[in-house]
Amino acid sequence: MSIVVLGAIDLKKRFKVPGQRPLEVLRGVNFSVRPGEKVAIVGRSGAGKSTLLNILGGLERPTSGTVTRPANIGFVFQRYHLMPELTVLENVLLPTMAAVHQADGPRTRRATDLLERVGLGGRLKHLPSELSGGEMQRVALARALVTEPELVLADEPTGNLDALTGSEILRVLQDLSVGSSVSLVLVTHSPEAAAICDRILTLENGVLK
Ligand SMILES: Nc1ncnc2c1ncn2[C@@H]1O[C@H](COP(=O)(O)OP(=O)(O)O)[C@@H](O)[C@H]1O
Ligand SMILES: [Mg+2]
Repeated sequence: MSIVVLGAIDLKKRFKVPGQRPLEVLRGVNFSVRPGEKVAIVGRSGAGKSTLLNILGGLERPTSGTVTRPANIGFVFQRYHLMPELTVLENVLLPTMAAVHQADGPRTRRATDLLERVGLGGRLKHLPSELSGGEMQRVALARALVTEPELVLADEPTGNLDALTGSEILRVLQDLSVGSSVSLVLVTHSPEAAAICDRILTLENGVLK
């Protein structure tokens, strides 16, 4: 096992804005995450947290700098991003579909087991529109973990939820990750969410401190 599961070296991101100075969102971000480590990234709205997480996850390109990370990662978004026409079980199975050689039995068992662990064992055939926000985010957590990733990236996973539901999601996230070797990078506004992590970093003026 490598010492570092995720490494970012001198990441910079500049957005060109027509008729204005370019927006320098990231000005040289350096950091690394060890296997099993849980890191929170906090910072005000507009600080560049989502931009950073998207670059770490390979969803956006940096202007310069490098990211090293495992191929197998899970992603959790503030707005769940479930496929509306797929059932709960199908949504969780979706990330496993690229592995064509994998038998259906084991992946369906793992998806069902994760849905039971997030408290949705009785909702396998529901559609996302038949669930509450908190339930949709539980599905998204199960989906993020179904491929047994080394690293999960979560962008304000409680940001759309009321305080109590948000706390429940954090408890589920903690239950799923405690005692497991999965690493977590959690972008959050919430001190309560940051407190479940081993380390808290602040993104400010384009750098992490
Ligand atoms: N595609 C884009 N083009 C131009 N500006 C962008 C783009 N994406 C984000 N930004 C700007 O970059 C800044 C950081 O955005 P974001 O990463 O979403 O911040 P946060 O997640 O911390 O609220 C904001 O000022 C936002 O308006
Ligand atoms: Mg954001």
